[in-house]
Amino acid sequence: MGQGVLTTGFTRAGGKGVLQCEGVSLERVANDVGTPAYVYSSATMRDRYERLDRMLEPVPHRIHYTLKANSSRGLLEVLRALGAGADVVSGGELTRALRAGFAPRDIIFGGVGKTEAELAYALDADVLLVNVESEAELRTLDRLARDRGVTARVSIRVNPEITLETPHDYIKTGGRGHKFGVPYDDVVHVATIAAELGHVSLIGLDMHLGSQLTRIDPYREGVERLVAIHDELRGRGIDTIEYLDIGGGLGVRYDTEQPPDLERFASLVLPPVAKTGMTLIMEPGRFIVGNAAVLLARVLYRKRSGGKDYVVADAGMTELLRPSHYGAFHRVLAVRRRGETRRVDVVGPVCESGDFLALDRDVDDVQPGDYLAVCDVGAYGYVMASNYNSRLRPAEVLVDGDRFAVITQREEPEDLMRREVAAPHWLRGV
Ligand code: LLP
Repeated sequence: MGQGVLTTGFTRAGGKGVLQCEGVSLERVANDVGTPAYVYSSATMRDRYERLDRMLEPVPHRIHYTLKANSSRGLLEVLRALGAGADVVSGGELTRALRAGFAPRDIIFGGVGKTEAELAYALDADVLLVNVESEAELRTLDRLARDRGVTARVSIRVNPEITLETPHDYIKTGGRGHKFGVPYDDVVHVATIAAELGHVSLIGLDMHLGSQLTRIDPYREGVERLVAIHDELRGRGIDTIEYLDIGGGLGVRYDTEQPPDLERFASLVLPPVAKTGMTLIMEPGRFIVGNAAVLLARVLYRKRSGGKDYVVADAGMTELLRPSHYGAFHRVLAVRRRGETRRVDVVGPVCESGDFLALDRDVDDVQPGDYLAVCDVGAYGYVMASNYNSRLRPAEVLVDGDRFAVITQREEPEDLMRREVAAPHWLRGV
């Protein structure tokens, strides 16, 4: 299953030797930094960003990298230097974006359940846009803006109500009845309210179809639906909309998927946008970072049980949740090949039967002490890591050419207990 295919940025020295990230041997990183560790190729991220930017060239556009895919400062700085903006969905992500040096006017704040404190934070920071997802949120934002004597720049997140294929139901977002966005038929009504409220300025329409999409047609359909709303609003005298945000969702190759064809994207999606004269916004996450990383792990044990061969690694669902949570496929490669392969389950050390990285997979006949690379884990990998079983979240390493640097240190036991109160301060409840 795609064993030989390596992602851009990751190669084998001399075509068959030790796996390396750009000019850096992964064995060297594992020896130096320890395992488990995420290792990122900055060249891959740059390549993806630039490809997307070139593809969007025919129309005025902005690329707002979505922090939920991976919000580590080291990566954010690479993307900011390329000219990316940021898309955030919580106060925590807003703080991260600001700290990584994104100008407030290069930040979009979205999310289905923002608290008043988060909305106030976005207003005080003066972000480019707040994507609102309901009439109630719009009214709350208006009140908070009035209290501050400011006008909130808003975009309405439209539920485009397009049902599409995603590899897992959990990553569908734009279908009828989903919790996200304003139902399509209510958008004109909510936009009319926005136009009447004194402290919001409606300058955008937004949608997000879903994630890991490989087909382009739904984007075309979604854009047409947003443009139809835009036209209807103009007909009603609402002509303030400058931005058309079509979300993220572009898929990547994990196994044998056909990644989306960017030329086809340009020819299908850009012409209807160009006609409107609006600025196109995209919020990509996976497309930029998905293929840009491997998770380095060490083989702890080999064992046989019930006629099955197991590779027990020092990383599992706590480091990479995607296989057990979504049944996601990630290639597992030996950093140094042994030549023979075995059909195995690659499992982690967590006390759950659902703790696995790969099931029934032909993997190099790795032995205890060998290093493994779990591929294409740059998106929704480190950010979904947990401390379950009081495991320490791994280190993150950024590679740039023939250099590498730790950008996130491995946690230490103290980090696990830092917020615990040794002598609780009891208060009377009555
Ligand atoms: N914009 C919005 C409003 C989103 O909800 C998302 C992702 C994105 C942009 C970025 O989508 P992307 O370009 O990365 O597909 N944890 C799941 C994926 C959840 C995606 C959530 N929303 C996974 O591991 O597959």
